[in-house]
Amino acid sequence: MTAISVENLHKRFGKTHALQGLSLAVEEGDVYGFLGPNGAGKTTTMRILATLLRPDSGTARVLGHDVIEEATAVRPVIGYMPDTSGAYRDMLVHEYLEFFAAAYRVPASQRGHVVSDCITLTGLHDKRNELIEALSRGMRQRLGLARCLVHDPKVLILDEPASGLDPRARIEILEVLRALGDMGKTVLISSHILSELRHLCNKICIIDLGKSIYSGTIAEALERARTAHRLQIRLVDRAQEASDMLREMDEIREAHATDGSIVVELVEGIADFSFVATTLVHKGFALLTIREEEILLEDAFIRLTDTDTLEAADAPVAADTTSGNRG
Ligand SMILES: Nc1ncnc2c1ncn2[C@@H]1O[C@H](COP(=O)(O)OP(=O)(O)OP(=O)(O)O)[C@@H](O)[C@H]1O
Ligand SMILES: [Mg+2]
Repeated sequence: MTAISVENLHKRFGKTHALQGLSLAVEEGDVYGFLGPNGAGKTTTMRILATLLRPDSGTARVLGHDVIEEATAVRPVIGYMPDTSGAYRDMLVHEYLEFFAAAYRVPASQRGHVVSDCITLTGLHDKRNELIEALSRGMRQRLGLARCLVHDPKVLILDEPASGLDPRARIEILEVLRALGDMGKTVLISSHILSELRHLCNKICIIDLGKSIYSGTIAEALERARTAHRLQIRLVDRAQEASDMLREMDEIREAHATDGSIVVELVEGIADFSFVATTLVHKGFALLTIREEEILLEDAFIRLTDTDTLEAADAPVAADTTSGNRG
């Protein structure tokens, strides 16, 4: 079953056309990455899904319920973590969670153990009797996540849950998210860091200027973003000389030597690089290894969200670049 379906969503804020016909589908059990640069429309989409903002047109459904017509059916089945958490700083961690459990009508007899389960899952056990004010940012982010879980929702909508955290805290919160995925929850998680989602999400959608520009697996995104193949070559010696020789070949766009190894970029469209080894050996160079460089996730992201590249690749519509404010 489709857990979240968004079709042709439009939303304007004054002159800003924040969502320009966005569509996406998240299946039940997906851990779905929602990516895009600043101002792409991620938060706007998530607020619409969380029933906090009305779209101008288009439809959005969560577990089959329309977010406008059936908002009261949507709210109990989602856990929404906004990109900023405010208020309630003078409450204790466990009080805060009990408060939300009550607000979500978790029966009083169950609240105690529901809250301690959420505290354990998000690694807040040592902090249960601390004032929220006294928590570090990472801990507060975990608390925001714990808050989304008190009513055991099937669908989690998490707006940049790992932003602003140090590398260790990021990894820890991503581990909690993975555990939630393993529990069978459907998770929609936004980020502007593709690599962060690599080992978490089974699917991603990349949006830019309020439109989906890619949806599918991360592996396919990388393949689609690939332009030219890059090779790393190691020789016993004479790297500079080999590099100069390779640069002159028609199939090679660029070659340069650094620290005794050579980086070669092939001309676009050329994938079979066996000729490089043959040539080097033929010319008497002592070849150690040739390795194809992996395309970096961040490069892929930048390529996929680069309007010029997209127009060249797809060219169906001229993107209205004047209406997008990239924050
Ligand atoms: N309440 C608002 N009033 C006016 N403009 C808004 C409002 N909310 C969002 N926008 C605009 O809509 C566009 C999309 O914003 P949104 O917050 O959805 O982007 P985002 O993808 O979440 O970006 P970020 O990565 O910075 O969080 C931006 O141009 C933003 O300035
Ligand atoms: Mg946002």
